[in-house]
Amino acid sequence: MSKRTCLAIILAAGEGTRMRSAVPKVLHKIGGRPMLGHVIDAAGTAGASETAVVVAPGDDAVTRFVATEGGGTIFTQRQPQGTAHAVLAARKALAGGHDDILVLYGDTPLVTGRTLKRMRRALANGADVVVLGFRPSDPAGYGRLIMDGRQLAAIRELKDASAAERSIGLVNAGVMAFRGDMAKALRKIGNSNAKQEYYLTDLVALANAAGKTVTVQEVGANEVIGVNTRAELAGAEAAFQRRARQVAMDRGATLIDPESVFLSYDTKIGRDTIVEPQVFFGTGVTIAEDVTIRAHSYIEGAAIARGAEIGPFARLRPGARVRDKARVGNFVEVKNAVIDVGAKANHLAYIGDAHVGTGANIGAGVITCNYDGFAKNHTEIGAGVFVGSNSALIAPVTIGDGAYVGSGSVINRDVAPDALAIARGRQTEKPGWVAAFRKLSMRRKKGGGKETVR
Ligand code: UD1
Ligand code: CA
Repeated sequence: MSKRTCLAIILAAGEGTRMRSAVPKVLHKIGGRPMLGHVIDAAGTAGASETAVVVAPGDDAVTRFVATEGGGTIFTQRQPQGTAHAVLAARKALAGGHDDILVLYGDTPLVTGRTLKRMRRALANGADVVVLGFRPSDPAGYGRLIMDGRQLAAIRELKDASAAERSIGLVNAGVMAFRGDMAKALRKIGNSNAKQEYYLTDLVALANAAGKTVTVQEVGANEVIGVNTRAELAGAEAAFQRRARQVAMDRGATLIDPESVFLSYDTKIGRDTIVEPQVFFGTGVTIAEDVTIRAHSYIEGAAIARGAEIGPFARLRPGARVRDKARVGNFVEVKNAVIDVGAKANHLAYIGDAHVGTGANIGAGVITCNYDGFAKNHTEIGAGVFVGSNSALIAPVTIGDGAYVGSGSVINRDVAPDALAIARGRQTEKPGWVAAFRKLSMRRKKGGGKETVR
């Protein structure tokens, strides 16, 4: 199969009005990635050598996504005249003479590369057209699959179906695979049906008439959830999360309460890492082995190395790099900063645009003042440094290796290695002041005592 070339055509020219959104439907996200991105990725996993994305005129945001992150070539369908018409919008790609053609929908994000590979394998083994089928609890508006033994005889759209056909439980998921030489039959598809549209599904009857082999591959309903509304988006997200949690656990992570952990499409969690309840992973997170992520942490764009401990209630923002055995504790926020091997920031701190050296200790309430209203500035904290509680480090500033910063300091100049820097009002003490004040106040109450206590 690997020698066969494959073109994936992803249809995304539908209007998506039911989302009630200024954002094109296929750019709504599942697991932090636009739905269209998931579909493009699945096609890639299935070995697609070329990907065509069919959009409506003016879908600039979709075009931009495909150009920058998605990968593929854009084709514009001038008017939505049906799924076959949409496929033909990519006729230049179809002319490329690919062995296999896969047709996918941009709003059906959970179809897996594995399923698509299975469909391609059926083509390699002699099928001419392969349709993906499933059995929904409510077959609603799906095209019914009319079988003749193992051969798929036709797909009947609901509006064109007889009562007997409507009672069929096996329906068209929308994904189709066909051999490249079937592409010319697409032009023979007409639009004499209830919706006056060019139905891709009519390819099945045409193939049958030409004596071709048309088969069905069945999948679970969760894999082919189509998204038309916000509620369906939430349903697809839930299905995605179930799948992602299962993958994380299969790879050796412990999720104490899987249902309360939210993962992104690219979250990587190493073996024997423990994730406590109520943790959210945004995109771009990589976690090594033996890490503990405690409850209520929010983590995005971060890399966490072996044996580190995060949270509870930690926030790691993009560019956070927590090295081996380092600790980021409760109410600590880290952004674009390295917390080096064995370093600790256990409570109530903000560390942004910084490097915290090996074994350094950041006290409670320490803030890197990284922003001056115009630019972000760097704070360099050396190895073994001890920053006392409630200190403000005004960047750019460097604390040399082994230095101490006294609690409550406001540090705006570099501190030499092994020095103690204290930058706060000196403590003074007035012996007996309170006793004298008390005595005077009592006398004043009785009408005397004009003098003051110094
Ligand atoms: C289609 C199938 C139906 C199947 C169902 C699965 C046809 C004729 N029917 O019906 O058998 O059960 O999907 O969800 O294919 N699109 C375009 N341009 C168009 C029309 C559609 O890009 O001119 C895109 C849409 O954006 C959507 C996809 O194609 O992503 C499916 O179109 P839609 O109109 O939703 O098809 P259904 O009527 O649901
Ligand atoms: Ca649909």
